[in-house]
Amino acid sequence: MSLQPQEIAPLNSLRRHVLSWLTDAFHAQETGGLSWHWSAFRARNAWQPSIAAIEGFLLSHEPRESDLLLIGGSAGWMMTSKWLSRFKTITIIDIDPLARLFFALIHGKALKRSGTAWHFERRDALKELPQLLKEHPNALVFFDNVLGQQCFRLKDEERVERLLGQIKKTLQGRHWGSIHDVYSGPIDLASPLGKMPLIRPEHILSFQCQLGEMNTASRQPEQNAKTPSSMPAPELEIQPSYMVLDGKKTSFDEGAQTLLQAVNATGEWQDHLSVEVFAPDTPSVMIPWFFKSDYCHWLQAAMVRT
Ligand SMILES: C[S@@+](CC[C@H](N)C(=O)[O-])C[C@H]1O[C@@H](n2cnc3c(N)ncnc32)[C@H](O)[C@@H]1O
Repeated sequence: MSLQPQEIAPLNSLRRHVLSWLTDAFHAQETGGLSWHWSAFRARNAWQPSIAAIEGFLLSHEPRESDLLLIGGSAGWMMTSKWLSRFKTITIIDIDPLARLFFALIHGKALKRSGTAWHFERRDALKELPQLLKEHPNALVFFDNVLGQQCFRLKDEERVERLLGQIKKTLQGRHWGSIHDVYSGPIDLASPLGKMPLIRPEHILSFQCQLGEMNTASRQPEQNAKTPSSMPAPELEIQPSYMVLDGKKTSFDEGAQTLLQAVNATGEWQDHLSVEVFAPDTPSVMIPWFFKSDYCHWLQAAMVRT
């Protein structure tokens, strides 16, 4: 017995739906999912100093809104319930279908006590941002460690930079904030050179930070020793013109070096292509996050009030 075309179409659509559900449940297009929940569950204690620093940042910005639109909230592993409890309603948008269950386990009780009503929607928040803003005209919009993950999902540098650079324009006139990865990479806490890192996992320090307007710099690719004449053209990269760290203005490269040295960075670091998320000179905080004993992230966090 063969199926008619009108019977095949719904089956194909169901199959696509199930496949996308499973893919996002497992790894959320390499940005979350079960692998994230497992890492976060196992490392919850080790991450406490960074979680406390994030809480300090959030609590220092008293929300004027009673509604929160939490984008990429997942289970809220890196948030305490204290800040979330300040809102009357929270809408969590995430592509990971398991986020609702884990969020309920972590924050459900506290939010019930504070009378905060919350609900979850499985949607692509970046694709649907203008529509979400229309649906939640009075909410504070907070991107919760999601913008720095887009380089893994989209795998196209130019597209990621365009997408992340556009967000502040789409949000013009709104109160919004974000915490996201700027850089991540290997560290050597054993410090074979005998130089102790300034920051340690159990004693983290944050930096007040401002990034200058963007310049297009050229990055010379590695020289090919055998055929110097066949060197490819330099790659162009977008880079802030300066960095102000704890009030000290330096070139962007010098500032980046300070951040890397502070955690004894080694090897190659990942650029999360997120330096253009905030407008130039937006006061922000750089928070180190020791993801593993030999791997660290620099998170940038800011609230934008217009
Ligand atoms: C690193 S996790 C952070 C999770 C959360 N902030 C926490 O503390 O548990 C990134 C989250 O962003 C979600 N995500 C990635 N791209 C998204 C998109 N375009 N729209 C909605 N959620 C997205 C992933 O599913 C994942 O849950």
